[in-house]
Amino acid sequence: MKIYPSRTFYGEFSIPGDKSITHRAILFNGAAEGRAVITNALLGEDCLSSAACMRALGADIRIEGDRIVVTGAPAFRDADCDCGNSGTTMRLLMGLTAGKGVQVRLTGDSSLSKRPMERVAAPLRQMGAEIFTTNGTAPITIGKAKLIGRRVDTVVASAQVKSALLLAALGAEGETIVREPMRSRDHTERMLAAMGADIRVDGRDVSIKGGKLRCRDVEVPGDISSAAYFMALGALRGETLCKNVGVNPTRTGILRVFDRMNVSYALENERTVCGEPVADIRVRKSELRAVRLTREIMPTLIDELPVIAVMCAFARGESVIEGAEELKVKESDRIQTTSDMINAAGGDCTPMPDGFIVRGKAELSGGTIRSCGDHRIAMSGAVALMASNEGGEIEDAQCVNISFPRFYTMLGQGGEKKC
Ligand code: S3P
Repeated sequence: MKIYPSRTFYGEFSIPGDKSITHRAILFNGAAEGRAVITNALLGEDCLSSAACMRALGADIRIEGDRIVVTGAPAFRDADCDCGNSGTTMRLLMGLTAGKGVQVRLTGDSSLSKRPMERVAAPLRQMGAEIFTTNGTAPITIGKAKLIGRRVDTVVASAQVKSALLLAALGAEGETIVREPMRSRDHTERMLAAMGADIRVDGRDVSIKGGKLRCRDVEVPGDISSAAYFMALGALRGETLCKNVGVNPTRTGILRVFDRMNVSYALENERTVCGEPVADIRVRKSELRAVRLTREIMPTLIDELPVIAVMCAFARGESVIEGAEELKVKESDRIQTTSDMINAAGGDCTPMPDGFIVRGKAELSGGTIRSCGDHRIAMSGAVALMASNEGGEIEDAQCVNISFPRFYTMLGQGGEKKC
């Protein structure tokens, strides 16, 4: 994919549905009693993997335009589930199927098959689950077992791990309390409460009792992780307005970074949709300052770090990102692939064991960037090239279909006009 440089970038963008919330709307309704309509659903490859797995388990899932109509299967059948590239699908299904009295096999593509799964399997076993991983990774088999609620302390602040445990707890006897080292995104807690679960949040503790879910219509807000590319282009090259973006406080670390990097932005039209805060985000061209980011903020912006690194590459001074070792186990080793992406675009980024150092430059030359099959590296690389002097090329560019199928089309719509 060729990316041409653009001195200015203005535009208004309707941001596609949130990936985390679309997954949950499909998985939870697919396991609930009744029928639900999901609107503004993200129809990227990851969420389609969740839909295919739920069909295999017995749910009826129909895609009608940008709506998904789900008729739940409160009782599952034995199934082989191909989770594709999607870590969320695999990890949440481990919890969702563990106490359902079925035999399930979970597989994934070559990237997903390298990602750590014991972080979910081990605490599920503490609840009585029968789970076999392949040296800690997929393929995974889940057997028939009776689960008992208990207190579980998770080691990593991961919404995928927490969500798997909360879903398993629904099929367990008694109460389960999950405590995280730091709070991760809370879409699961919000949606389960709306679907009738007996769930309580108290600081870092989430308690939930066994019980059934009722289907619930969901209107999915736009994904701040997808908006981030257009927000960055506004800050670097002009002004952008990203409409209908989810601004759940467990997801808005990038706005805290904007505060510290001197980015001029505003939230407009703030409202609540299906229990999730939503706003339009306006970002204006700013003189960017370097930033130092440490461990505490990571869960709130982990997927935005590649594009934040691009902004740091254009900022005045040296930015340090530390406490971000989770990046190593994403769709690619994002400490390495982010550094390689910045350097290939003409920037200056040094990887470290737990993050990277980015030395800002006034200009980047551009160049050829390898996505390494990672959607967020491809999209962050496209932002870097668009803001560079000569532009360049993204190799293996189609991986954006995982989370943002219309990304290049929308990028091409940004232009000279003021919004
Ligand atoms: C997600 C949680 C995050 C995030 C991923 C989606 C989710 O992963 O990186 O893209 O939907 O729960 P972790 O929970 O493993 O940090």
